[in-house]
Amino acid sequence: MTTSNSPVLTLDNVSKDFRQGDEIIHALRPTDLDIYAGEFVGILGPSGSGKSTMLTIMGGLRSPGNGRVFINGEKFSELKEKQRAEIRHRKIGFVLQAAGLVPFLQINDQFSLYDRVAGTKPNFDRRDDLMKSLDISKYGKSYPGDLSGGERQRAAIAVALYHDPALILADEPTAALDTQRAMTVAKILADQTHERDKATVMVTHDERLLDVCDRVLQMKDGELTTIR
Ligand SMILES: Nc1ncnc2c1ncn2[C@@H]1O[C@H](COP(=O)(O)OP(=O)(O)OP(=O)(O)O)[C@@H](O)[C@H]1O
Ligand SMILES: [Mg+2]
Repeated sequence: MTTSNSPVLTLDNVSKDFRQGDEIIHALRPTDLDIYAGEFVGILGPSGSGKSTMLTIMGGLRSPGNGRVFINGEKFSELKEKQRAEIRHRKIGFVLQAAGLVPFLQINDQFSLYDRVAGTKPNFDRRDDLMKSLDISKYGKSYPGDLSGGERQRAAIAVALYHDPALILADEPTAALDTQRAMTVAKILADQTHERDKATVMVTHDERLLDVCDRVLQMKDGELTTIR
């Protein structure tokens, strides 16, 4: 458990513009935000409003145009890519719009791959617990292509949570799921956040899922506001 009260994630005046032809798109307008351990933050907003842009900047997959990103007080956005990748590996779990599974590996081996890359010892109990709570226990020896879209999405979530990241960034993790499964997945993310003291950001179009969020933000034309 984290004992300090400093934020897990800080955005300090972070913004991002894109050029599309002659036009400048203000994908993310200057934004300040702190997210603490144990907080489950939901982000709503129409298509093209800048949600994924912000999430990829939070996770260091993209650099901010201006401003700085801190993770556990460390100046994340100003590190060299190699150091950023190292922090990403240790501290961040991504659940992205395109589920991040390796097509030619069985689901069980997706977890082993993480251990191999990160140099960590396998934790089969944790893997099996996650598979069970996401209702995919029987697919350990299946390939991603043999699963349904929703099962694949749940497997990607299990893999993202496996290394016990301090920060979880989820971009529409329930998009491929029916209502009941979507609610289950949102609850699993909320439980992980509260029980294991993680900081979680979940982008969603589904307002019903916001019941399990501690804080709800809205993105509109690159501008982030607090709803509750
Ligand atoms: N690499 C890029 N180059 C140019 N423009 C981009 C790039 N990535 C995103 N944009 C533009 O930035 C704006 C925000 O895009 P973003 O992907 O963040 O939206 P979003 O809120 O995640 O939308 P959705 O709900 O459809 O996923 C859009 O106008 C998009 O066209
Ligand atoms: Mg998006």
